[in-house]
Amino acid sequence: MATDPSGFAHHFAEPDLGPVVVGEDKIRARIIELGAEITRDYADRPPLLVCVLKGAFIFLADLARAIRLPVEVDFMAVSSYGASTRSSGVVRIVKDLDIDLAGRHVVLVEDIVDSGLTLTYLRRNLAARQPASLEVCALFVRQGNQKTHEELRYVGFEIPPAFVLGFGLDVAERYRNLPYVCEFRGSA
Ligand code: IMP
Ligand code: MG
Repeated sequence: MATDPSGFAHHFAEPDLGPVVVGEDKIRARIIELGAEITRDYADRPPLLVCVLKGAFIFLADLARAIRLPVEVDFMAVSSYGASTRSSGVVRIVKDLDIDLAGRHVVLVEDIVDSGLTLTYLRRNLAARQPASLEVCALFVRQGNQKTHEELRYVGFEIPPAFVLGFGLDVAERYRNLPYVCEFRGSA
């Protein structure tokens, strides 16, 4: 393990990596709790988990294994940030779902809600496909930044304003493979 100048041990040595915001053990424990909640709430109607790529791929993998129901999984890819750290407000579906949502109990699995613009767009888009129900499970919510007030049924952690990396979250496609979440120190 590399250690950054402030004493934080990192998965690999990179000047971009700042202090850890949520460590690996905390993330794991919280995902197990979320999985238990979903297991309870959907006991009689196994949900279809819709993973929003790319950021939610690691969260989805852990969450799906924490749910003790025969869930189905599908993926959609959206692009909202490009290579920058600020939301453009414009969301583009890069890859659509394979499964028809009509009559399904859908849980939308998101990595992080910042402005909420991506979520507002996705919710509207998925709701139009007539699922029996539609809820959101977001691993992180950035405090106080939401331009829209979306109802989030399941939230892992509320995190402070700093841009973060790891556990699926990237800057310009890098650092998704960090097993924890830390602050970004560079500029983008
Ligand atoms: P929103 O549309 O502003 O809510 O932004 C949501 C999307 O932006 C997420 O799905 C992420 O892909 C990306 N994003 C927001 N904040 C961060 C961050 O701190 N690190 C990495 N990606 C982020
Ligand atoms: Mg991203």
